[in-house]
Amino acid sequence: METDIPFARPFMGREEEEAALRVLRSGWLTTGKEALAFEKEFAGFLASPRRPPLTALAVNSATSGLHLALEACGIGPGDVVLVPSYTFTATAEVVRYLGADIAFVDTAPGSFHIDPAALERTLERLEQGLPAYPPRTGTGVGFGPLGKPRAVIPVHYGGLPCNMDAIMAAARRYGIRVIEDAAHAFPSRLSSGEWAGTIGDAGVFSFYATKTLSTGEGGMVVTRDGELSRRIAVMRSHGIDRPGWNRYTDGKASWHYEVTAPGFKYNLPDILAAIGRVQLTRALALLKRREEIAARYDAAFPDDKRLRLPPSGPGDARHLYPLRLRPETSGPGRDLFIRALQDRGIGVSVHFIPLHIMPYYKERYDLETEDFPESMRNFEQVVSLPIWPGMKDAQVDRVIETVNAVLGEPGY
Ligand SMILES: Cc1ncc(COP(=O)(O)O)c(C=O)c1O
Repeated sequence: METDIPFARPFMGREEEEAALRVLRSGWLTTGKEALAFEKEFAGFLASPRRPPLTALAVNSATSGLHLALEACGIGPGDVVLVPSYTFTATAEVVRYLGADIAFVDTAPGSFHIDPAALERTLERLEQGLPAYPPRTGTGVGFGPLGKPRAVIPVHYGGLPCNMDAIMAAARRYGIRVIEDAAHAFPSRLSSGEWAGTIGDAGVFSFYATKTLSTGEGGMVVTRDGELSRRIAVMRSHGIDRPGWNRYTDGKASWHYEVTAPGFKYNLPDILAAIGRVQLTRALALLKRREEIAARYDAAFPDDKRLRLPPSGPGDARHLYPLRLRPETSGPGRDLFIRALQDRGIGVSVHFIPLHIMPYYKERYDLETEDFPESMRNFEQVVSLPIWPGMKDAQVDRVIETVNAVLGEPGY
């Protein structure tokens, strides 16, 4: 019998250990040649012969990458950035770092992604100088933030790419920037064959411990826009015009630099970059294993009045496996289902608790639970199962048997 199965576990091999050791022994621990090589290799992985070249900028988290991308777009007080209500707080908090406001957008019915139709409606209201949401009672001017719409941050939830055609069309119509939150989406392909994260003005990937490519903490911003990449490069290291590595390698006085803006300290150290380079070489093999696990789950679970299988498609990175219980038609509900799995040693999670019910956002924008009904429906039904590439077949089987056993209990 397999022992407890964690919800997530990074895949780290001998090569990652050796890469970290190589850097530890090199005498250069912070951002340097490993980070530069990682950026080049990452950009190479995502390159498209049909599009201009891509610049990749390594950062210490996706959160800092999102912050830098918005800052480089010039977002500030008086601006509004559109963010799905169904995401992690990092997607939204960065907007507040810059003093801009957030207009949440509900998920499309049946999906985990931002609803392009709701996005257009919110853009239209803001463009007309109205608060982001229509009145709840049919009278008044509505509620929510006011300001100029400047950007949208679609989230490729779970590694399944968003409908980027519809989002880009809306963004063009209203002249706003698109920053893709691709924290879950390495590597995810759109139906056009292009990679998620490479379609908007910038895309941001996460290398957090549970992500598909992991360096413990870390992230990467990619962009084809030279102005954005130049600004991000400077702002990720204190607004200094010459990053540390260049100061010691470009042959000029190593002590001299100029501060051109009040920047941040968001660079990725070489120890982590070296691990990331190895992980990058494994990305497609790890994806294949996640696809195998998802296929086993898809084949083993019922898609009936009790459960809905996760929406998916050919380019899905399969970062998450989000089952949805159907408490309205059957069963004691998601919370008891989670408890039953945890009691039997299966690690699970919930992606996500919608942001509009989080105290900070709820209070700031005067939001009510019912304002984003599709996000709430997802939240009340969803449970993410373990889907990490190191899982053995016996562990996958154990998850399957346990889920099916719980579903077979009286009441479901
Ligand atoms: C959708 C989404 N965006 C952004 C982030 C932030 O990533 P990081 O932890 O690398 O800052 C996360 C983290 O889990 C996430 O789930």
